[in-house]
Amino acid sequence: MRIKITLLAVACSLVIGRPGHAGSVPVRAANGMVVCEEAIAAQVGIEAMQTGGNAIDGAVATAFALAVTLPTAGNIGGGGFLIYRPAEGEPVAYDFRETAPAAATADMWLNGGVYDPLRHHQSHLAVGVPGTVAGLYLAWSENGKLPWQRLVAPAIALASNGFEVTDGLARSLKQALPRLKKYPASMAQFTKGGTPFEAGDILKQPDLAKTLKRIGERGPAGFYEGETAELLVGEMQSGGGIITKNDLKGYAARKRQPIRGNYRGYEIISMPPPSSGGVTLVEMLNILEGYDLAEDGFSAARNVHRYTEAMRRAYEDRAQYLGDPDVNPLMPIQKLISKQYAQHLRNTISETGASKSAPDKFDWRPESSHTTHLSVVDSQRNAVALTYTLEQGYGSAIVVPGAGFLLNNEMGDFNPAPGLTNDQGLIGTDPNLTAPGKRMLSSMTPTIVAKDGQPFMVTGTPGGRTIINTVLQTILNVVDFQMNAQEAVDAGRIHHQWLPDEIWFEQFSLSPDTVEILQDSGHALVEKKWPSAAQVIVVDRDHGILEGGSDRRVPDGAAVGY
Ligand code: DON
Repeated sequence: MRIKITLLAVACSLVIGRPGHAGSVPVRAANGMVVCEEAIAAQVGIEAMQTGGNAIDGAVATAFALAVTLPTAGNIGGGGFLIYRPAEGEPVAYDFRETAPAAATADMWLNGGVYDPLRHHQSHLAVGVPGTVAGLYLAWSENGKLPWQRLVAPAIALASNGFEVTDGLARSLKQALPRLKKYPASMAQFTKGGTPFEAGDILKQPDLAKTLKRIGERGPAGFYEGETAELLVGEMQSGGGIITKNDLKGYAARKRQPIRGNYRGYEIISMPPPSSGGVTLVEMLNILEGYDLAEDGFSAARNVHRYTEAMRRAYEDRAQYLGDPDVNPLMPIQKLISKQYAQHLRNTISETGASKSAPDKFDWRPESSHTTHLSVVDSQRNAVALTYTLEQGYGSAIVVPGAGFLLNNEMGDFNPAPGLTNDQGLIGTDPNLTAPGKRMLSSMTPTIVAKDGQPFMVTGTPGGRTIINTVLQTILNVVDFQMNAQEAVDAGRIHHQWLPDEIWFEQFSLSPDTVEILQDSGHALVEKKWPSAAQVIVVDRDHGILEGGSDRRVPDGAAVGY
């Protein structure tokens, strides 16, 4: 497979850059581009577009391929969000977030009245009804050009013939081993009879190939009904889970209106609830629009302070107000994304001193990797931003025996129990309590930026709650600091999420004297490694050329163009 990919890339005379990691120089291409976390999957998307497909076809083909080649986050057993901005017509958002099964209850994470984090995050009960297959199908059926089967075919081939394990995948699988060990089908799929895969080994996933074949032939019915559904429900029954055949059959992806904002004349198109991403992003951009960020310069202490204060306020609103829109119809979204509200919030920010987050409210549990994002633009300038996830790396770590795919543990994104709010990181507020059929609140922020009616930037990333701030900074880096796509992804980042009241700054991103200035103005700072993998396309302002930037923080990312 590796050899084939290399030949294809070389044979493609229109490639201006090169596939794979780009260093600080973005990959540039005239026609179309896919930027994602794994190179084979990016190439699969490019081939779909080169053979008559559009950006939706490219994204769907890439997403199915990632379900094979990036098992930590690529998936058919999880869920996600997709923003589509067609070259002609209105942008749309596709919501394929997982849902709580019908038997779910708000207090199901309590065991004898005591919160049980293992049940919430690491059990069959933690599995939400998967949305990915329904969501990809809905987006394709409304916009795709190539036959559905054609888009699933490369993933079937990769699962059945196998592909070469990279050093990054070998490391990732080794790390996941303690969690996979609990489940024989997971060990059978992701080890060589108990021995970890090494770089250069071929990973074949024959059961996954069979499931993908059913999806290719029957569409969502190949997943939500018939043999795949039987196998999934069988695993639920033997492991103490509650997803039923009715839950699967009843799953529906939703088409929603994107969140729209405007930042210094650039149009922002992002994900609405049940993701908190778009609302929080636009709220922060609106606050920051009132400052001349460029004048002070990238990573200047004054700008880090402004970012932090914008983040603090928007993340507080996120925690207070946001949840599944079908269950919380009265969320004050229009207010939160309005310029007047931003002005009001900006007036509460001092230019010199740190505000304080209310300590009597709640904290959040730390989040771990992984989720994955892909950005796609085609030759007509249709654009797709797609982020999807199993929640943690390898989700629940449960491979459905005989069906070969990992199940998510997305139920962990619901709040733990009514009123259970404490300084250990738990939130018990209403909008995001568990309820039958409800979608858990997300931070995933697939976003498209447009300028003068043309797509300008496609961005998104994994990283739990840091997602929204990473997306924010990729946009500020390009719009305010004129960075190219790769520079915007590579530049150091900061994060503040209201509580804990600390600025997390990425290793090597702030100078010691900047840290000191911020400490003197009352901020607490913590240096961190960054859990993100942003994948960005920028349309070059002068030439209309596509620039791709894939995050250097993860091992196998790729920007591929033609
Ligand atoms: O939907 C969400 O916001 C989370 N389940 C995403 C988890 C995540 O990004 C972890 N990745 N690094």
